[in-house]
Amino acid sequence: MIQAREDYYLRDAPTISDGEFDDYVRELEAIEAEYPQLSDGSPTQQVGGWAAATFAPVTHLQQLLSLDNVFSEGELRAWAERAIKAVGEAAIAEAGWLCEVKIDGLALDLVYRNRKLESAATRGDGVTGEDVTGNVRTIAAIPKTLPKDAPDVVEVRGEVFMKVADFEALNAAMGIERERDFAAAKAAGKDLPKKRYFFANPRNAAAGSLRQKDPKITASRKLSFYCHGFGEVSSLDGAFDRQSDGYELAARWGLPTSPYTKVVASLAEVWEFVQRYAEQRHSLEHEIDGVVVKINDRALQETLGATSRAPRWAVAYKYPPEEVTTKLLDIEVGVGRTGRVTPYAVMEPVRVAGSTVEHATLHNETEVRRKGVLIGDTVVLRKAGDVIPEVLGPVESLRDGSEREFTMPTHCPSCGAELKPEKEDDLDIRCPNQRSCPAQLIERLSYIGSRAALDIETLGERTATELVRGGLLGDEGDLFNLDAATLLRNPFFTLKDDPGKLTKPAEQLLDNLEAAKTSPFTRFLTALSIRHIGKGTAPAVAAAFPSITALAAASTAELAAVEGVGPILAEAITEWFAEPWHREIIAKWEAAGCILADSPSARPDVEQTLAGMTVVVTGTVPGYTRDGANEAVIAHGGKATGSVSAKTDAVVVGEGAGSKYDKAVALGIRIIPAADFDEFLRAG
Ligand code: IVH
Repeated sequence: MIQAREDYYLRDAPTISDGEFDDYVRELEAIEAEYPQLSDGSPTQQVGGWAAATFAPVTHLQQLLSLDNVFSEGELRAWAERAIKAVGEAAIAEAGWLCEVKIDGLALDLVYRNRKLESAATRGDGVTGEDVTGNVRTIAAIPKTLPKDAPDVVEVRGEVFMKVADFEALNAAMGIERERDFAAAKAAGKDLPKKRYFFANPRNAAAGSLRQKDPKITASRKLSFYCHGFGEVSSLDGAFDRQSDGYELAARWGLPTSPYTKVVASLAEVWEFVQRYAEQRHSLEHEIDGVVVKINDRALQETLGATSRAPRWAVAYKYPPEEVTTKLLDIEVGVGRTGRVTPYAVMEPVRVAGSTVEHATLHNETEVRRKGVLIGDTVVLRKAGDVIPEVLGPVESLRDGSEREFTMPTHCPSCGAELKPEKEDDLDIRCPNQRSCPAQLIERLSYIGSRAALDIETLGERTATELVRGGLLGDEGDLFNLDAATLLRNPFFTLKDDPGKLTKPAEQLLDNLEAAKTSPFTRFLTALSIRHIGKGTAPAVAAAFPSITALAAASTAELAAVEGVGPILAEAITEWFAEPWHREIIAKWEAAGCILADSPSARPDVEQTLAGMTVVVTGTVPGYTRDGANEAVIAHGGKATGSVSAKTDAVVVGEGAGSKYDKAVALGIRIIPAADFDEFLRAG
């Protein structure tokens, strides 16, 4: 833990995640609660970092404290109740609870003497910090002078941080630099220079940028600053009784203050603030790792005082960690539906943001190099909310020399074809053997079965693999010709004790395929794996060309002219139809009884009761998914749209309907209750 703390504070190169560090602190606190004699000199009694040797020490005018952490509503309440017990709830409510986001940066202490910036120092051990004045002078957001009416001595504290957008731009630029150095080193037969090409997160980037020996480098990095407290301030006695008023004063002096701050009167509202920012955590311009709750009244702050490391009048509510470290066991490559070959990380399974992660895409070879990860590295892994897990970069200090560089294969791992980029400057490389590369075919087949396409529950990745590996089909053209005799050739689909019989799921697969033959045209269109056609774009294409025959006959210009299609999609459609084996798929599917059209003549079985009508479905309709209800409208000859206007003929209203219902009533449009939807489809 001591080692981890040094890595974090002194070297700006953490070796464990913040969440793991917090866990260690809590474990140590629990032990010390039982054996108080052990707590003397323990890290739990000290303010976070230490002064590092590279910058001159500065003694702060007043000690910089840290904050105690809480991790649940109960712990937050317990903290508040201790304060309430000491000074009374009404007294606190008077000036309010000051809620702020906890900026994930590093603390900075600024001293202005006679309105001039005299020194800037990191927190260090709280008493002595490091002098970073020269570097701080290069930060545009920090004023070098204060206005005439400011007091003689002003000591303010705040957080230096890097906005997420600035961090991403910095890493991208460093990645380009690494590429360049990499190429130069390779040409010269030398090793890559030992310098930093990547920051794992905005906090490290801010710390690394602030603690530069050369202020020019700091100046080239975009650092930001928000003020969040005060140290010594002369001749201001009584000038501000509330911390929030102090922020207003600071803002008037030109010091930046956070826009994400709110004074509330009750604990219930404090909790609302905590929850609100938990949801908005990733929409702010900078990273936050929690919320800081402060008692706003300065006199009460004084009364409550502090322990050796943290005030009793403020607390940090920490959000669950979203970053962890784990071992990068290998980098493998996968072949996607369109032949794109993608390297992905295989890691020691690790829990992060509520789920266990062991794989993460690395996109392409350039990205692997930009991140600078080696196989065998300890890597920082991030999963923000329900976002896809991402490997941020290596913990370089943990390397032992056994790590090795990843090399992209030259041939497809699935079919052995030679890999190449589609166009010369493409970063992605592809397997050109689209028709019969097993990996591509398996991906296309399971995509056909997916919810976005034909929604065939029994046609998933496993079934697709067995169909292809068992040689039961040559390409997806054969899918709708599958029959019991064919499936019986692969033991995966047969009963163990009676190999002459199909399993229940195999029988179901045949039933499902039969039923899928009359799927709406948009679904077939999606199922064909035409580049850029997906759930989002297929409806626009199908609305303009409601059958595969019409679509195949359309010119690129005609396609591009359709609203929601555009030139790239038009080109992709034309290219797709130019491939003879693609046309064969269509011919085979149609021969097997698939109806690749929404036009009335192609669907004689469905009566066109809604012909010429524009219908909006809002809320849930029992027995239908949202897409399903719209598809039923289309199948009956109607046009399904998303917004209600004077042109709408009917609005189907289900549970949860909102403003669309109100608008329909206001416009006097015919309302169909969800319960009558089937009757509406039947009778129009
Ligand atoms: S107040 C005496 N307010 O979090 C109270 N700190 O974990 C001092 N931090 O050292 C801190 N955002 O560097 C405060 N809105 C905020 C903050 C904040 C981030 C940092 C600060 C502090 C650390 C404690």
